[in-house]
Amino acid sequence: MFRKKEPEVMRDLPTHVAIIMDGNGRWAKRRHLPRTAGHAAGSKTFKEIARYANKIGIKYLTVYAFSTENWKRPEEEVKNIMGILRDYLKDIDNFKDENIRLKFIGDLTRLDSDIVELIAEAEEKSKNATGTHLNIALNYGGRDEIIHAVKSMMNENIKPEDITEQVLSDHLYTAGQPDPDFIIRPSGEYRLSNFLIWQSAYAEYWFSDILWPDFKPKHFEKALESYMGRNRRFGGI
Ligand code: IPE
Ligand code: IPE
Ligand code: MG
Repeated sequence: MFRKKEPEVMRDLPTHVAIIMDGNGRWAKRRHLPRTAGHAAGSKTFKEIARYANKIGIKYLTVYAFSTENWKRPEEEVKNIMGILRDYLKDIDNFKDENIRLKFIGDLTRLDSDIVELIAEAEEKSKNATGTHLNIALNYGGRDEIIHAVKSMMNENIKPEDITEQVLSDHLYTAGQPDPDFIIRPSGEYRLSNFLIWQSAYAEYWFSDILWPDFKPKHFEKALESYMGRNRRFGGI
C-alpha cells in the first residue's frame, strides 16, 4: 500500500484527483481484440483504482467515463459502453459496502431512462458513505457544463453584478466540491478533451503512455508521488 517515503519533504495527498480513463480501444487493438474488450478491461481498472483511492484516503475522485463528444462513435460501441455502465450500476452494493459515495456529473437527460433510474438509486444508496466521493463524468463536457451553469443562473434571475467565480462554481455539476488538485491522463495524449475545464484552472497534471486497462495502483502511486513533490504557487511566490 502507498506510503509517503519522506514525510518531511512530501506534501499531502491531493484532496481531489481526476482521471481521464483513456486508451481502452488501443489496448484492445494491440491484443487483436474488439474495442468492447478494451472497455470491459477499462471498467475493471476503474473499479480497482476507485477502491484503491478510497483505501489510501483520497477524498474526491472524478473519472471521465463518457464525454459529450463520444456520441460520435459507432452506435454499437456507445451501446456497449452504456451496457457496461448498466452492469456496474446494478452491482452497486459492492460500492456501498466499500463506503464510496457516488455522484454522476454531466447531462444525464440524454441517457436511457433505466440508466437514469439506476443512477438515482446508486446516488441515494451511497449518500451516507463517508469514504471517497466518486464522481463519474457521464455525457460530460466542460463547455456543456458551463452553459448549463449560465442557464441556471439566468433562470434564478441572478444579477450580473452578483456573478462571481464562486457563484459560477456553485452552479456547476461539481458544486460544493473542491477543484481537482491533480489530473491524470494515461494513453499518451496530452489534452483535456473538454474535461473539467473550469475546475482545472490550477490543477497539476500527470501524463503517461500507459493505456488505461494497464493502469495499476503502482502507477497511481507513482503519479501521486510526483504530485507530492511539486510546489504549487497559485500565482504567488
Ligand atoms: C476511453 O478509451 C474510453 C472512452 C472514451 C469511453 P477510448 O475508447 O477512447 O480508447 P482509445 O483512445 O481509442 O484507445
Ligand atoms: C476522453 O477520451 C473521454 C473519456 C475518456 C471518456 P477521448 O478518447 O474521447 O478523447 P479524444 O477524442 O482522444 O480527445
Ligand atoms: Mg480515447
